[in-house]
Amino acid sequence: MTSMAQPLDRRDDLDPIEIASRDEIAALQLTRLRWSLDHAYRNVPHYKTAFDAAGVHPDDLRDHCDLAKFPFTAKSDLRANYPFGMFAVPRNEVVRVHASSGTTGKPTVVGYTQNDVDMWADLMARSIRAAGGRAGDIVHVSYGYGLFTGGLGAHYGAEKLGCTVIPVSGGMTERQVQLIEDFGAEIIMVTPSYMLAIADEYKRQGLDPRKSPLRVGMHGAEPWTPAMRQEIEQTFDMDALDLYGLSEVIGPGVACECVETKDGLHLWEDHFYPEVVDPETGDVLPDGEVGELVFTSLTKEAFPIVRYRTRDLTRLLPGTARSMRRMEKVTGRSDDMMIVRGVNVFPSQIEEQIFKDERLSPHYLLELSSKGRLDALTVVVEPRPGRPLDGDASDDASARLAEHVKAAAGVHVDVRLVPVGGIERSMGKAKRIVDLRDRG
Ligand code: DLL
Repeated sequence: MTSMAQPLDRRDDLDPIEIASRDEIAALQLTRLRWSLDHAYRNVPHYKTAFDAAGVHPDDLRDHCDLAKFPFTAKSDLRANYPFGMFAVPRNEVVRVHASSGTTGKPTVVGYTQNDVDMWADLMARSIRAAGGRAGDIVHVSYGYGLFTGGLGAHYGAEKLGCTVIPVSGGMTERQVQLIEDFGAEIIMVTPSYMLAIADEYKRQGLDPRKSPLRVGMHGAEPWTPAMRQEIEQTFDMDALDLYGLSEVIGPGVACECVETKDGLHLWEDHFYPEVVDPETGDVLPDGEVGELVFTSLTKEAFPIVRYRTRDLTRLLPGTARSMRRMEKVTGRSDDMMIVRGVNVFPSQIEEQIFKDERLSPHYLLELSSKGRLDALTVVVEPRPGRPLDGDASDDASARLAEHVKAAAGVHVDVRLVPVGGIERSMGKAKRIVDLRDRG
């Protein structure tokens, strides 16, 4: 669709660094990298031990490429230092704590000084502006408020930009629709999967989502395909932009698409230094090659992070509407990769195929089970509301989906169609994979 937002004809709306020369950005990064490595080394015992063990010192960083000599940080390092062991400032300078729960064990805890919270709000404001938001806009936040960084991260950024924030959080979908309509929200910040649940609720109430006041959606916190973008944009007649981030790095607002080009997410690399590495060997890959995204924070005080392995797979691309580099849409996490009979499959590959059949809805689950000694994958999916599929049509839709998945991903799947509403709607991040395999 054509962009609904005003073109950014006033470049002076942008932070100067967004359109600075590459040399200027690189120089700033180098100064900040030196500060950040030194700060981590001096104030976090984990980094001192890890740098010493690797035989590197912050003074060894003479150029950006020297960063490759420094050790990676993994989620397990953060867990081992639970709860506050990775903080680089005295606890009483930490004004906020967030945590992400993960599937097992202790949560990962992160902390922020007042400067960190202010920087985060600035970057979220920059992200909302890139998405086409302006001071005075009404912003409806459906990301969860609480230990999850989505709600509060979006909230303070929108306030900083001068927007009117409606802090709804996730859930109570009926009321979400009512508030969007009654308050006239122009921007919505919500996971893509919950946006679809809101779309269904519009239709259930007999309302046309295309007539909603919304003109921009900022979606992230989970992978979503270009087909899902098209679905959201067409359903609501709005621009749907990708917003990326993770709590270990700061929260939402690490990278964001801009409405002018919608061609990948601009990485706010004046605050977070990105690398893409080979997930197996850890070698740094040149820009343009797909691998695992790794971040080093450049300005964070409370929780500096050095070479953090995100497990997110993407590649780095040159800047377009901004001079900062872009990251391609995250296609999946290495954690979410399923290996079915030796074939690697990501949920996004299956999602793309579901969107190809207009009889099927984008609500789906992937069930892994054991068939004898082999793994089996079943795609559980609903038909579109108002299009119940009888026996033959149901068999046909299932067979076609299985065929498409086989052709695109090279893997055999079973398909099970369930009635509309048969798949539980997520209020936040959708859980796509259910693992029922025997572990015995
Ligand atoms: O999900 C922060 C966030 C909130 C981002 C709201 C965007 C919007 P965590 O809970 O720590 O933080 O989860 C981070 O979510 O490593 C990715 O695997 C995934 N993720 C986040 N944004 C995207 C995106 C928040 N736009 C993890 N596309 C990350 C794909 C995403 N995956």
